[in-house]
Amino acid sequence: MIALTGATGFIGQAFGRFLAGRAIPFTPIPSAVFRDAGAARRLLGECGARFLINCAGYTGKPNVDACELHKAECLEGNAVFPGRLAGICGELGLPWGHVSSGCIFTGDKGLSGHGTDAVGHRLGFTELDPPNFSFRQNNCSFYSGTKALGEEALGYRENGPVGNRQWTAPDGVPSVYIWRLRIPFSGVDSPRNYLSKLMRYERLLNARNSISQLDEFVRACWECYEKQVPFGIYNVTNPGSITTHEIVEIILASAVGRRLQAQGKTFDFFDDEHEFMEKAAITPRSNCVLNSSKLASFGIRLTPVREAVTHALENWKSAA
Ligand SMILES: NC(=O)c1ccc[n+]([C@@H]2O[C@H](COP(=O)([O-])OP(=O)(O)OC[C@H]3O[C@@H](n4cnc5c(N)ncnc54)[C@H](OP(=O)(O)O)[C@@H]3O)[C@@H](O)[C@H]2O)c1
Repeated sequence: MIALTGATGFIGQAFGRFLAGRAIPFTPIPSAVFRDAGAARRLLGECGARFLINCAGYTGKPNVDACELHKAECLEGNAVFPGRLAGICGELGLPWGHVSSGCIFTGDKGLSGHGTDAVGHRLGFTELDPPNFSFRQNNCSFYSGTKALGEEALGYRENGPVGNRQWTAPDGVPSVYIWRLRIPFSGVDSPRNYLSKLMRYERLLNARNSISQLDEFVRACWECYEKQVPFGIYNVTNPGSITTHEIVEIILASAVGRRLQAQGKTFDFFDDEHEFMEKAAITPRSNCVLNSSKLASFGIRLTPVREAVTHALENWKSAA
């Protein structure tokens, strides 16, 4: 039996569909149960959980700006709750996986090779890099700060001399995967789908990011458990990176993009991040490139990002 927390959310529902599609028995567990550690331990024992997937967290609606106004809920959902789960799962010896976020980084860590800025040549932050968009850097949104704290709350700590930093689980840490999701997208129209958002926003911010195809993300997380890859942190993003401009070009070349253009839709951009912050946002956004080669080294592969975005748009479906 798989225990699923946050099952009512956007990501939790995707895990639910995946598990149901493979006839893997799972039990949604309401987050409130974990306020009482004894009751949570009993429930997990009674349902015979052999692995727990945590999709609970506080994201802010309609976007992360809302987290600046709801700080207690954000801290509770993203940092305290995973810490509480770590304690309970640790006591039970129950392995688990935590959906974290790539939004704890900013930037791309430079170019690999020959000074080219071609897609896919960015180095990207690896799992060994400490978050650089967090409360410790004092440069982040409240949401990103709490997501970085959430990873710390699971017992991972910086280990090693400065300049050769590594994130290592200290002895006795519960068996947990930290899966970093980044800007989920898919071929199904939805207010939570990044591609739908780009089609709906009045103006767009051009930025380069690594992003995650939602169904591939879920499948890759499950494969971590299924293939018993070592516990630890995994960047679960489609290989490479892509800019907002590049995605808009792919949208415009697709049938859904042509339909939108025929209806008079235009894709307009802010001049720069300064104008975006001035006119459309309250708190700074993370834009970052992640390196997903650790996951690939265990044979868990996602489609290269341009190909995945193109495939989603070529197979675009309205929400059911
Ligand atoms: N969607 C994204 O763009 C994205 C990107 C990267 C990472 N993530 C991470 O993925 C996880 C799920 O996100 P989502 O998009 O599925 O969010 P969502 O649609 O808002 O769902 C959040 C889930 O978490 C539960 N929850 C909310 N506040 C909580 C709290 N204070 N304590 C415990 N549980 C709480 C909700 O339960 P109720 O139904 O009871 O409210 C719901 O089941 C989060 O950790 C988020 O940070 C999301």
